[in-house]
Amino acid sequence: MTKIIDGKKIAEEIREELKSEVLALGEKGIVPGLVVILVGEDSASQVYVRNKERVAKEIGINSEVVRLPAETSQEELEKIISKYNADEKIHGILVQLPLPNNIDAKRIINLIDPKKDVDCFHPENVGRMMIGDARFLPCTPAGILELLERSEVAVEGKNVVIVGRSNIVGKPLAVMLINLGATVTVCNSKTKNLKEICASADILVSATGRAGLICEEMVKQDSVVVDVGINRDAEGKLVGDVDYIHVCDKTHCITPVPGGVGPMTIMMLMRNTILAAKNSLS
Ligand code: GUN
Repeated sequence: MTKIIDGKKIAEEIREELKSEVLALGEKGIVPGLVVILVGEDSASQVYVRNKERVAKEIGINSEVVRLPAETSQEELEKIISKYNADEKIHGILVQLPLPNNIDAKRIINLIDPKKDVDCFHPENVGRMMIGDARFLPCTPAGILELLERSEVAVEGKNVVIVGRSNIVGKPLAVMLINLGATVTVCNSKTKNLKEICASADILVSATGRAGLICEEMVKQDSVVVDVGINRDAEGKLVGDVDYIHVCDKTHCITPVPGGVGPMTIMMLMRNTILAAKNSLS
């Protein structure tokens, strides 16, 4: 029997754990503070930012959202980040991506104080994660590992295939899995023999943004499938990268879209913000 991994329920469990952590910090006189900076009008980003604001509130994290027009200059944005770098009440700074084309995103990420880089995008934090000395873990990969752990899926010694090589999901997830003792293959949508490689996976993770890329013949019987894709089908319905209806019964367990990885990403951001607040004590 296939098990559907309920990301929404697991995220709610973590939310309750985080609420207790925030209460305990409150007794020490600390309220974790998060600022989310959104530049421009990207509609998906607006939804993500609203959700982050809502969940932060539920947990008791002090959250601020800075909404800036698309014409904001590099200099103005850098000034705002410098201000929050110096603000002791703010422990986490998140600049929502993508940024408008007139802004150099690399320079912006480099400017964020690594101790407040709750996305784990700063090169210092990426490097630390690489050598197994992580300060933060990036939110989506951390959410995936948490889902697997809480669903009692071990990764050590497993053959994991990741389709997608982004800096936000594919690459950091590969590093984290290597550090946990998995054997990792990273593919992309143009990989030769993609079908055969995917079909060899004990755990298959897809993060490409291509609806229906992962079809039944690419999935090994009784394997674990994690779908990180967020796409719209022809009818405008939210779907992942996996042809879920045909793949589902073949798997040991699978994450749905929506309600799989998505809710976990936000919760890991909250966890990082609380961690940043705790780290500020030492
Ligand atoms: N845009 C899409 N995903 C993310 C994320 O994890 N962090 C930020 N800052 N922007 C994003």
